[in-house]
Amino acid sequence: MCDCAGLPSSDLVASVRETPQSVNAVGPGYEVKGYEKLAYSYSFVDDIFDVAKDDLSSYFQKWKRCLAIMDETVYGHYGQKTKAYFAAHGIDVTIHVFKGGELNKTMTTMLDFVDAMDRYGLIRKEPVLVVGGGLASDVVGYACASYRRSSNFIRVSTTLIGLIDAAVSIKVGLNHGKLKNRLGAYHAPMHTFLDFDFLKTLPVEQVRNGFAEIVKISHVAHKPTWDRLVKYGPELVETRFGRTSTGDRAVELRQVASVICRDAIKVMLDLESPNLHEIGLDRVIASGHTWSPTLELTPTVPLRHGHAIMIDMSFSITLAHSRGYITERERDEFFDLQSQVGLSMDHEDFDAKLLLKATDAILKTRDGKQRFAVPKPLGTCFFINDASDEELTSALATHKAHIRERYPHMVNGVGKSAFVDAGDLGHDPAELVKKAMNGKSKPLNASDSMRSKIKAIDNVSHAQSVVVA
Ligand SMILES: NC(=O)c1ccc[n+]([C@@H]2O[C@H](COP(=O)([O-])OP(=O)(O)OC[C@H]3O[C@@H](n4cnc5c(N)ncnc54)[C@H](O)[C@@H]3O)[C@@H](O)[C@H]2O)c1
Ligand SMILES: [Zn+2]
Repeated sequence: MCDCAGLPSSDLVASVRETPQSVNAVGPGYEVKGYEKLAYSYSFVDDIFDVAKDDLSSYFQKWKRCLAIMDETVYGHYGQKTKAYFAAHGIDVTIHVFKGGELNKTMTTMLDFVDAMDRYGLIRKEPVLVVGGGLASDVVGYACASYRRSSNFIRVSTTLIGLIDAAVSIKVGLNHGKLKNRLGAYHAPMHTFLDFDFLKTLPVEQVRNGFAEIVKISHVAHKPTWDRLVKYGPELVETRFGRTSTGDRAVELRQVASVICRDAIKVMLDLESPNLHEIGLDRVIASGHTWSPTLELTPTVPLRHGHAIMIDMSFSITLAHSRGYITERERDEFFDLQSQVGLSMDHEDFDAKLLLKATDAILKTRDGKQRFAVPKPLGTCFFINDASDEELTSALATHKAHIRERYPHMVNGVGKSAFVDAGDLGHDPAELVKKAMNGKSKPLNASDSMRSKIKAIDNVSHAQSVVVA
């Protein structure tokens, strides 16, 4: 049961002091200093919509009603279950369904949520429920941050990225034009439910995306988790972290998955909670996120986030190895794991030009320092600040040659289903290719054009199978 009957009132402690009069002022000024407690919580509950469980419903008993928001895909899988759950608990649920996808992570979608909250007559302090991946919780969270300047929400995470990455943070927001997550706020939910049973219906490509984030945190911050990934990684991805496996193996896999995810979440919370507003810029969790923001959107059909950050991390591994920070065995252990789970380690657009351009771009957000988070050794983090352009481009050449030679089955180091599909985009990716080929976007070279066409066809058939399902 939640302790939400009496929601906490603000415990802001503030002091006001008079400041000396400045030359042009007509009298002394004032300075206000204050501190407010921040508290939010998590619980791990499997099958959260099991009618026998009141963990979620208890947050809505006071209101006897609930406004839930979810995207079309999540609604397709869990809409009826959500209705049955709340009905069994005597709570009247209204579900607002929206079209997901990164192209719909917009102010328009956010304002649509605001309208839904208004129509519903949301009472101050009454929480909104968001059921979905990182995208849904980002946009609903931002709507709640803005609605009446601050409203409550409860988060139920349904993707691996949502469970082990977005859930750890209190960042909410949306894209503006071509700028990813450009508008946003820091707004904590009242509570986050982490239910890994949702992975049962999650496409394997999305599981791989989340896996990349667990690789990220473990290889620079938690060796025991890294070792477990090496041992169980490919099986975990295929079985949705044990949630779809049966028989003797199921128990072991679910147990190990649970340890991996709990530890990854705890490590991220420990690292990020003292730096919630990201004032400190030496961030271990920024590993894999140095060159990837530029690379991710460069191909005509963008790379999936997990693949883009894995290319970034893989290059960092080569860089760390060339400096003697990790051994050859550690380097190959890292690469072998990614090759087995189907994550990308290189891409033809990741060339010297992009590398240096992306390095320049990241310096602007890191206060002029490189702060490349690399392992030294695996399981610990070191921030590189003195890499020259020559060192970076030479390491890139070494990286490309090594990946080509050791993993000849991967074309240019690209993994499985590396490009976004209609579900990720909220739009048919084939349209992007068509647009590019009509000269409305950047000109394409032959291989780019061919590759994108092939990917677009793959993606369209995947999207159709999702719709049919
Ligand atoms: N706030 C943060 O700190 C933070 C951290 C990481 C990512 N993010 C944001 O999160 C988004 C990426 O998150 P995501 O990968 O969860 O994307 P997402 O929410 O778009 O979900 C990915 C796809 O999976 C589908 N889906 C969700 N749950 C499902 C389930 N249980 N079964 C079947 N299909 C399901 C969705 O409909 C969607 O098509 C990005 O917009 C990113 O910016 C935010
Ligand atoms: Zn990420």
